[in-house]
Amino acid sequence: MSIEVNQEKKSFTLQTTHTTYQMIVHDSGSLLHTYYGEKIPAEDLSYLLFDGECHFAPYPYENTARKGSLDVLTQEFPTVGQGDSRAIALDVMHQDGTHVLDLRYSSFELIKGKYNLETFPSFYATKDENVESLKITLKDALSKLEITLYYAVFEKSDLITRTVKITNHGTQSIQIYKIQSLVLDFPTGDFDLLHFHGKWAMERQIESLALEHAKISFGSNYGLSGNKQNPGFVLAKKNASEFLGECYGFNLVYSGNFEATAQKASLGQSRITLGIGDDQFSWKLEPEQSFEAPEGVMSYSNQGFSKLSQNFHDAIRKNLCRSKFTQEKRPVLINNWEATYFDFTGEKLIEIARAAKPIGVDLFVMDDGWFGNRYDDNRALGDWTVNEEKLGMTLAELVESIHQLGLDFGIWMEPEMVNEDSDLYRAHPDWVLQFPHRKALLGRNQFVLNLARKEVVEYLYEKICQILDAAPISYLKWDMNRPLSDWYSKDLPADRQGELQTRYILGLYDILGRLTERYPDVLFEGCSSGGARFDLGMLAFHPQIWTSDNTDAINRLAIQYGTSFMYPISAMGTHVSVSPNHQNGRITPLKTRINVAMSGTFGYELDVSTLTSEEKKEAQLATKTYHTHQALIMTGDYYRIKEDRKISAWQVVAKDKKESLLTYVVKENEGNPEFIYITLKGLLKDAVYEISQKSYKGSVLMSAGLKLKQPKSNVDSEQIYIQKRD
Ligand code: GLA
Repeated sequence: MSIEVNQEKKSFTLQTTHTTYQMIVHDSGSLLHTYYGEKIPAEDLSYLLFDGECHFAPYPYENTARKGSLDVLTQEFPTVGQGDSRAIALDVMHQDGTHVLDLRYSSFELIKGKYNLETFPSFYATKDENVESLKITLKDALSKLEITLYYAVFEKSDLITRTVKITNHGTQSIQIYKIQSLVLDFPTGDFDLLHFHGKWAMERQIESLALEHAKISFGSNYGLSGNKQNPGFVLAKKNASEFLGECYGFNLVYSGNFEATAQKASLGQSRITLGIGDDQFSWKLEPEQSFEAPEGVMSYSNQGFSKLSQNFHDAIRKNLCRSKFTQEKRPVLINNWEATYFDFTGEKLIEIARAAKPIGVDLFVMDDGWFGNRYDDNRALGDWTVNEEKLGMTLAELVESIHQLGLDFGIWMEPEMVNEDSDLYRAHPDWVLQFPHRKALLGRNQFVLNLARKEVVEYLYEKICQILDAAPISYLKWDMNRPLSDWYSKDLPADRQGELQTRYILGLYDILGRLTERYPDVLFEGCSSGGARFDLGMLAFHPQIWTSDNTDAINRLAIQYGTSFMYPISAMGTHVSVSPNHQNGRITPLKTRINVAMSGTFGYELDVSTLTSEEKKEAQLATKTYHTHQALIMTGDYYRIKEDRKISAWQVVAKDKKESLLTYVVKENEGNPEFIYITLKGLLKDAVYEISQKSYKGSVLMSAGLKLKQPKSNVDSEQIYIQKRD
């Protein structure tokens, strides 16, 4: 049983294989949080709650002993109007303008399997898993608002998902101004917060901030999860490191605005919150209407960050995306973007595909520039009709030629956008997000289609189906290339404009849900100016996302390193591109470009027809090697072995521990370089492993380690295959 309810003590204990989470109903009826961490028995932990006088803090009226202040206690779902000065989870305004909720426990329900979310994508349970769910209902007696907290326990993955639904049983409408999916309180707080900031072409750079008394708040307010911050973050005890120590990870299954906060409060208690961003957010609830928040997800590890990441990786691979490709081998693809940009014809694409075939590539992807009057990025977005004049052939003819070469065919689209210079905009200027009487902001010279409007969603869905039906297309790159702005929709009343940002995301999920269901054999890859929408919401539909427009292997080390904290490498689009690199001009040997791209969904993004015959042979061998190790890379346990100024090293270990792949890159080579020793992880201590025909005991590799070759040149790298002897 992964959920233990003690009816007498009114405690709820969620147990995964290695973790315990407990909440308890206080004498006052408030739902309080007592513990989350290493697994312990489901005992009554209410003794941990602060029971002294709360000096000068507000406390409930009936509490004459001056105790029980919600400003001091560790809470499960703190709300507005209860004297809690920390970040709260729920703020609503009633008809009379008051912002207050006094939530008291009402009931609970246990559910076999995973609770069901009606609006947002969420994690699901597979057949062979023991997943149980708990619903706890809290009520505000005066307004008759009902708050249901949902928890699902994924026992084996040490993962808990949670969310909240608010239902208005009152007689008047209310406005929700803030609703967070996840709150976690700790009675103390010596933590560091690891978050992932970035920018275009340098996404998810790790940064560690000490959690002190000032509130840390980060998120996105430009309509997508974004590249400036990521909703996934880690709270680490001070001594935690990659392989030791306690840490907590949090993420949100949502692709729009989000906000995360972390703070140490005045008595040392710490709180984190995560949910929809509340910049301009509001949601009106009429009587008997409900609002469901997106799903939050959390995990805990007492073996450092790599284990924490592995918990998320496993669940994301198994329990989030319904695409069959999540569990299957992915095609090695070649994308023509960096090879040609907008300057191509059908013949040029066929030439690249022809050169890619002997290299072992499975899929050719035609990127931006194939439709309408799209000769550059200033026009034609929205005009999803094949430019046969530019291609010199029809789409069906192009696909047929690529198929004849023995490659599958994939296509790029950016459905959410429109250029002013496009037939679509000329026909429907009112379909874009725009404030009345003002010009809409431009980003990459494009406007944003209002996906909160049903007719826009229907139009796009039909249009995309037409393209996917026009020829045998087996891959779609879904791009989205600008921050969203101009939040106004003329079909929403003034008091519902605050819903627009969320309704946009719901419109997006509606199209993606229907498309991925209708085309189960099409592989969808997400993209947003590279990796600006790398989040669990998109991963619920797309098994892989283009990690960054930056294809420089050395910059990619930092990008892929940061991304790997919260997301599996099986979700990362990683391609070999040309040297000198187009984004930063760096010259990198092909071997290193290959080794870095192999830690993801391997592919190529250059004109392979221009490679020398030596390079073609090297690429051919690389594709073969990737195909050989792909299952290991896609499903193995990922360990970040070393990441410093000089070296990046990482290792993937098969679940059955029979094989492993270690990769390292020497980023900065010195004259007379230092020795490099690496101790491996995740092997069987007593097993014997073979590396380049030499045998080593697992325990030896994990304690004494390997002495690596001294680098021959700058940015040199090696990939080392480790196989267990039978
Ligand atoms: C974005 C994507 C690129 C490419 C271009 C095409 O920048 O991230 O991969 O598809 O758009 O315009």
